[in-house]
Amino acid sequence: MEKQRTPEETDRERRLKWFREARFGMFIHWGLYSQLGRHEWVMNRERIPIEEYERLADTWKPKPHPARWWARLAKLAGMRYMVMTTKHHEGFCLFNTQCTDYNAVKRGPGRDLVAEFVEAARAEGLRVGFYYSLMDWHHPDGARCKNDEAARKRFVEFTHGIVRELMTNYGKIDIMWYDVNWPLTAEEWEAEKMNRMVRELQPDIIINNRSGLPEDFGTPEQHITPEKGGRMWEACMTFNESWGYTPIDTRYKDAWQIVSMLRQVAAGGGNLLLNIGPAPDGSVPEVCEEELMKVGKWLQEYGPSVYDATDPMHQDWLITGAFTRKGQTLYFHCNRWPGSELAIGGLQCRVLRTRLMNGPEVPFTQTENRLVVRGLPESAPNPLCTVIEVEVEGEPKQVLGAGYVLIENDPWR
Ligand code: GLC
Repeated sequence: MEKQRTPEETDRERRLKWFREARFGMFIHWGLYSQLGRHEWVMNRERIPIEEYERLADTWKPKPHPARWWARLAKLAGMRYMVMTTKHHEGFCLFNTQCTDYNAVKRGPGRDLVAEFVEAARAEGLRVGFYYSLMDWHHPDGARCKNDEAARKRFVEFTHGIVRELMTNYGKIDIMWYDVNWPLTAEEWEAEKMNRMVRELQPDIIINNRSGLPEDFGTPEQHITPEKGGRMWEACMTFNESWGYTPIDTRYKDAWQIVSMLRQVAAGGGNLLLNIGPAPDGSVPEVCEEELMKVGKWLQEYGPSVYDATDPMHQDWLITGAFTRKGQTLYFHCNRWPGSELAIGGLQCRVLRTRLMNGPEVPFTQTENRLVVRGLPESAPNPLCTVIEVEVEGEPKQVLGAGYVLIENDPWR
């Protein structure tokens, strides 16, 4: 019997609907740190004194409207939403605020970069998310709030005030993406009250789990791990190994890896939030553009195998690829092409048809433990990942284990 949903759960599912279908979003880390090009934690890691770091607020002069290209790029990549850092740990606000003068309108950029971002994302029909770091290395109360009640009160008022502005001044916002709640607990942040206010101002918004409360979705970082019990989750991943612009960090992921990540999040019923760290002028590292375009082209051909498919079986077993699933259709994502024959072990349901996705049917043979798809091209039709559709009868089931002779209660299974 299905468990009855509480009204709160029903409302959560209503708000999460678009997000569960979105699958792929763009994360943007952009701030004063982008000028130094040594990771967004540079202020802390290199122990740069505040007075010295503050000068970066006046030297930052981004070119006009870079967000328009980010949004275009996101769209071309097959992404459906964007989340931008409105304030990172450095404390600099990329938007107009009455709460501090340390902001993009009053200092170097001389304009509201968040407003530009929101407008650009909407123009491409993409959903809009605000990243906001609770931790603040610039605010005088940012650290002492832990042991000084008057400072905590001031800092909480400052934080709630900014969050109120963000939720009031930019129209409909789809995601509130908090980050690092050091040094306070959810209770000390008065996070319940803060999020109640967020919902009063934005009744459809979804909120992540980083204000210290679980809220609407989990945020595994730099790993793809589904949440338990059907709770929604979104894996956030860097393109190289930094979030902020870091040209010396040159080990970028390629389209092949990104497509694999998309399959993995799909299989686990989650989303992928893939980061770009634009240069201080707002331009995107060329390698990211190139790889994202390839992913977009791949999604145009194979989109339904990740956007609309998941896979409760969720097993990475073969070196040649793995499944996602929608109803009676299994999509085998073959990212290491074996040649003219592909063998898949353990399927325990009758296979009716196999075909190259968007292509011809291909012959197969099936025995109890082994499906062999034959007559495939010698080389991969799409080297990033070719999808083979396997239509089955009944509930799809794959039984795997260390011994190929099936044993009841096999501990390896
Ligand atoms: C971490 C890092 C931060 C980054 C974030 C993205 O918490 O502190 O630099 O913005 O993760 O998820």
